[in-house]
Amino acid sequence: MKKFFALILVVVMVLSFAGCAKGEEEVKATVLKVAFNQSESHPQYKALAAFGEALATETDGAYTLEISPNALLGDQRATAELVQSGAIQMSVVGNPIVENFNQEFAVIGLPYIYDSLDHQETVFTSGVLGDLFASTREQGFVVVGAFTAGSRNVYTDKPITQPSDLAGYKVRVMQSDTMKKMLDYMGGVGTPMAQGEVYTAVQQGVLEGGENNEVTYVDLKHYEISPFFSYTQHLMVPDLIIINNAVLDAMSDTHKATFEKLMNEAISNQFDAWAESVDAAKAIAIENGATFVDVDITPFQENVKPLHEEVTAKSDLSKALYEAIRALVK
Ligand code: GCU
Repeated sequence: MKKFFALILVVVMVLSFAGCAKGEEEVKATVLKVAFNQSESHPQYKALAAFGEALATETDGAYTLEISPNALLGDQRATAELVQSGAIQMSVVGNPIVENFNQEFAVIGLPYIYDSLDHQETVFTSGVLGDLFASTREQGFVVVGAFTAGSRNVYTDKPITQPSDLAGYKVRVMQSDTMKKMLDYMGGVGTPMAQGEVYTAVQQGVLEGGENNEVTYVDLKHYEISPFFSYTQHLMVPDLIIINNAVLDAMSDTHKATFEKLMNEAISNQFDAWAESVDAAKAIAIENGATFVDVDITPFQENVKPLHEEVTAKSDLSKALYEAIRALVK
């Protein structure tokens, strides 16, 4: 009889152990919540969604992505803090947001530092930014890659073709010191603000305009409030993909390698898709009455030179990064 009970006990233990192992496997399926501040039609959203599908397939479901578009989880600054605390796992944030965590990032978001999309793609895929991207680790997150957002241009109620056209014009910029200084050097009054507040601020006369790429200009219908889009081309700001440290560190080496490989592919694909998105956005803006103005950028380039000096004088790393980026111009 005793033997019978002992056998039952063993069977029960084996079964519960098997159940536990299964349970553990289930726990290991990780959902990565990603914050995104633009719509599902944005090329970065599409690149992320494709990345998520490939990640789920190639990790056999161990990692899936859940993207929340349209700033549902808050503006970029708020979502960077959510990633930092681990409340969400990932976010796409403009470089100026990360500059607030680590000043060294200012250099990769300087006006006119990239000559073209090709130049920017070479910089993003060359590995020169690797140490910088890892340097936010102390803050609780790292940068796993950078998407392009094309070139940014000033839009307002009139054409802007020279710095003096911006005199007294309050133009919204992304939230960092460098962005504010840049717009001031360009001739206007840089006004840091979250992207989602710009439409109403212009409507109410708090701002005279904004600066952004064609895709966001159209996505947010800013042509309705600022119909002149002038090609100052002053910025090509990296959009940084950030991930919570603990999430990255918990990945097995194989999963991490898959994640990195797929991220690099997503970045190249997103560069390829960008030009097409710009053409489509421009057509919509024109249909809705916007005017695109060509600009001789030389005076703007001259005006922002002191900012290059200020930022690169901050540290040896900033200077070295600046030189490495400029050396990649073909
Ligand atoms: C672009 C960029 C975003 C950024 C936005 C802004 O759309 O891709 O990352 O949030 O500009 O001006 O805030």
